[in-house]
Amino acid sequence: MEKYKDWNWIDKEEVGSTNDEALALSKEVTDGKYIISAKMQNQGRGRRGRSWIGLEGNLFMSLLVKVPLSQLGEIIFVVSLSLLESIKNLFPDIDIKLKWPNDVLVKGCKVSGILMEKGEGDYLVIGIGVNIAQSPKIEGLIYPAISLADNGYKTDRITLLKEYLSCFDKNFDILQNYGFEAIRSAWLSHVKGLGEQIEVRGTNENKIGIFKDIDKNGFLLLETNKGIEKICAGDIFYI
Ligand code: BTN
Repeated sequence: MEKYKDWNWIDKEEVGSTNDEALALSKEVTDGKYIISAKMQNQGRGRRGRSWIGLEGNLFMSLLVKVPLSQLGEIIFVVSLSLLESIKNLFPDIDIKLKWPNDVLVKGCKVSGILMEKGEGDYLVIGIGVNIAQSPKIEGLIYPAISLADNGYKTDRITLLKEYLSCFDKNFDILQNYGFEAIRSAWLSHVKGLGEQIEVRGTNENKIGIFKDIDKNGFLLLETNKGIEKICAGDIFYI
């Protein structure tokens, strides 16, 4: 295990899923924060039971951090805001936006994925995949994918990983010291589609309305013909 700042860092050649590695690690450790990364991931998992394709040169990492139960809803915003900021720090002129609940879009296409899972005790697993070098060129993706390299933005997984940890540490401190409002307003300043019409595709139904806000719990507030509806899960599409 290496050390990077106050992170315990395990970098592997090849794994099934860095989230699975982090979940297993959460059963063995009781203290400290960890990051597990891999050069290649061949059984990556995505949100809502989907899979995440492992392509060479991309970033696959899972953070293992202690987060109090009361902050689980808020931490999603720290995670995605930090990802946007870390990419923007490397490429200040990049066209990059956030998509609720936790996607990062470059030129309107999905450049990354985040999968958070509850580990042992207070531990939370934060799995992040970033299309650095390649994006999957396959039919049937629910959202068009893009890579940083597709747009001429060249970096490597270790540079982005380190930049990410700095941004995450900074935003995690802001959350602890100043509360969710500071994170929420920074996050909203980067979100795509605020005040515009969107479609939210849920497990059981789809809804169309105006994206009004996110509330103090991180739920999306959608103005539909029934009034303001609170959305707690779903995939957003811009109309
Ligand atoms: C999504 O569906 O958008 C989330 C994808 C999350 C992928 C990352 S890659 C690193 C970590 N390990 C996994 O198995 N999944 C996450």
